[in-house]
Amino acid sequence: MRAMVFERFGGPDVLHLADLPTPSPAAGQALIEVKAAAINPADCKWRSGRFAGLFPNSFPDVVGYDIAGVVVSGPGFSPGTRVAGMLDLLGKGGYAEYAIIDAAQLAPIPEDMSFQTAAAVPAAGITGLQMIERAIDVQAGQLVLITGAVGAVGRFAMYAARMRGAEIVAAVRAEQKDMAKSLGAAHVIELGKEDWSGPPFDHIADTVGGDVVIPLCRHVKPGGTIAYVSNEELNPEGLPVTPQHFVMQPSGPDLARLLQAVASGDVEVRIARALPLEEAGEGQRLIEAGGLGGKVVLTL
Ligand SMILES: NC(=O)c1ccc[n+]([C@@H]2O[C@H](COP(=O)([O-])OP(=O)(O)OC[C@H]3O[C@@H](n4cnc5c(N)ncnc54)[C@H](OP(=O)(O)O)[C@@H]3O)[C@@H](O)[C@H]2O)c1
Repeated sequence: MRAMVFERFGGPDVLHLADLPTPSPAAGQALIEVKAAAINPADCKWRSGRFAGLFPNSFPDVVGYDIAGVVVSGPGFSPGTRVAGMLDLLGKGGYAEYAIIDAAQLAPIPEDMSFQTAAAVPAAGITGLQMIERAIDVQAGQLVLITGAVGAVGRFAMYAARMRGAEIVAAVRAEQKDMAKSLGAAHVIELGKEDWSGPPFDHIADTVGGDVVIPLCRHVKPGGTIAYVSNEELNPEGLPVTPQHFVMQPSGPDLARLLQAVASGDVEVRIARALPLEEAGEGQRLIEAGGLGGKVVLTL
């Protein structure tokens, strides 16, 4: 099968096309013919070596978490069923013609939804949802700061917080303020430029990380939660609570809820670029540059 692989850590140029054996599913796994695979920031971190030493990997490595395609074989789904899913955190393998995935991590794609849109949902959507529901357990009426709120994870965190009845403060770039309002933020501030002068936050869901977020973290209530997902650490010194790094877990049921939310228009997924599989390197370059305002999806 065709796959985009890399055999050493480096820039996006280390990604190249290779012919690999089609993987064989084990018990409980499905074999999927991939039609679209979304690129996530984590893919770039694997390829650059940012995760080297932290997590095991071997070469040739195939990255990619988000896939949408059709079932070739597997428990619980008839062959030909259109499905989306997030591959294992360590297993990866989405930039390829075929992928194997635990059937419990799959969800059917709603009628009328394209493979590209479905592929753009899993990792970002599940992360945003689980930050709000599991890492924090946001309650109705609570004031929640969401940083990077119009990014891929951020917009799903906004959706999940809205569904819980929270009041959202979005911290975004100046040019993203209108978008954040349209996605349901009650208050919008420019991250890194504006401080917060309202009542203290009950919780913070941070998708940006690093020093730029720290001044806003000082406004969280003691007893609240600061959940962050980026690899840019939040220095706990002087903060009312210690930030907790959250790692999402792939989940078919969570994904099914999110796909339905996208299908019904409750949350909007933006595809900034669709590129053929062979241009995965260019796709990763675009993701690393930032400012795209949407996902990059590889098509097969
Ligand atoms: N721990 C986990 O389980 C997990 C799971 C999924 C993702 N993640 C991590 O979560 C992070 C977000 O992922 P994503 O897919 O949502 O990325 P994304 O789509 O690029 O979203 C990030 C958002 O934050 C904004 N942003 C970045 N730096 C900023 C700054 N200094 N000031 C204001 N806004 C800023 C970006 O704006 P621009 O586009 O203009 O830069 C963008 O809107 C990544 O680090 C990713 O690796 C972790």
